[in-house]
Amino acid sequence: MIDLKRIPGEKQDLDAYEVEHLFHSWSFQPAVSPLRVVSARGVRFKTDDGRERLDFSSCFVSHNIGHQDPRVVEAICEQARQLTSFVPNLSTRPRAMLGRMLEEITPGDLSRSFLSTGGTEANEAAVKICHQYTGRRKMLARYRSYHGDTATSMSLSAGDVRSWAQVLGGMELVRVPQPYCYRCMFGQSYPECDLCCATYIDEVIELEGGGDQVAGIICEPVTGANGVIVPPPEYFPRLRRICDKWGVLLIADEVMTGFGRTGRWFAMDHWDVVPDIMTMAKGITSGYMPLGATIARKHIGDRFQDQFFSHGATYAGHALACAAALAVIPIYQTDGLIENSASLGAYLLERALELKDRHPSVGDVRGLGLFVGLELVKNKKTREPIMPHAARIQPGTNPKLEVAKKLAELGVMAMAANPGNVIGLAPPLIVTKDEIDEGIAAMDEALEAADAYTEA
Ligand SMILES: Cc1ncc(COP(=O)(O)O)c(C=O)c1O
Repeated sequence: MIDLKRIPGEKQDLDAYEVEHLFHSWSFQPAVSPLRVVSARGVRFKTDDGRERLDFSSCFVSHNIGHQDPRVVEAICEQARQLTSFVPNLSTRPRAMLGRMLEEITPGDLSRSFLSTGGTEANEAAVKICHQYTGRRKMLARYRSYHGDTATSMSLSAGDVRSWAQVLGGMELVRVPQPYCYRCMFGQSYPECDLCCATYIDEVIELEGGGDQVAGIICEPVTGANGVIVPPPEYFPRLRRICDKWGVLLIADEVMTGFGRTGRWFAMDHWDVVPDIMTMAKGITSGYMPLGATIARKHIGDRFQDQFFSHGATYAGHALACAAALAVIPIYQTDGLIENSASLGAYLLERALELKDRHPSVGDVRGLGLFVGLELVKNKKTREPIMPHAARIQPGTNPKLEVAKKLAELGVMAMAANPGNVIGLAPPLIVTKDEIDEGIAAMDEALEAADAYTEA
């Protein structure tokens, strides 16, 4: 007989249990239990220490429409009362409707979707489609990327310190640089560089066997976790042409940037580029349910009428998750959230740039829509990073953790747990000017912790 009474219920017992028995993501296992969240609404959340805090990160850039929107909660409950889920070889109405909705909002002829349970899985499916469609094994990924936590997607997360423990599997991987103008790997400056980071990819594809060998390249349109890196406007149109030249499939990983985050439905819309495959998650349900989607262009999808589509999962197209997405997606439009992201994103960037003027530790500020990054440096002139690239996986404290700690004391949560030297600001798209001012004021105070690490 299982003794269910032994499951701890009191806070003290739960805290002790968490510390001793649960794996906490991407960290040395903590000596103290993390704060427990008890409720959330709009842009704020409450923890069991009785405090309310401002969510300036949208929970890893997922809760785009804000927390606990009753329209979405009701839609999930309504679907749950009718049918929670069913095997994916039969369909449900929410699944079919969501496929149609994704076709409507994505650019070009992206039109055949595979629905999974998160961003990682969406990318796994994208890579498998690339391999199966082209019959080639090699994939290109860019340094300073994050594409997910499982074997293939973690391998694709080139240069992310979290991928160092990963044993490469499932494909041949070739790594190429980002269009990271603040720290150009070619020592060039934009626009004089003429985008040599893109030309380099062209040459790498040729050297790796071109159209015989290379299946695809995966890119975050605006690189998220590894530094909010916004590409020059010509970058993706140029990359599109390079991919077309070789018949290499371009995968846009819009898991973080999709659903209004950058001020358009998808970041690729800024440059009018249609990828061959687009992946999404997070904002698709605004974090209310786990859901990922991989959508391919028509001719790619059509191929699998004659060719076996070798991919699937028990929860593919889960009815509750699809119902949540069907409630969330129209809200972006009805509530003007994409426009809000564009206009308040400009305001957030303007206010963040003031922090650069005031703090010796802020070397660069960049962003698109409500997605802004502050890059911390030891020395503004030399651009020496405030901490080594490996700091995120080393024990002890570091300047970014100190800033995050101070922010938490001040009642704000930003994107500070990522690798690298960048702190991201990504409030829900319902944020107001006053709330941005509140977040920036806290950031202003918290950055003093990073300033202490700078060279005078
Ligand atoms: C760009 C990008 N791709 C993929 C993922 C993985 O998504 P998930 O955590 O839903 O598996 C993330 C997560 O942060 C991401 O930022």
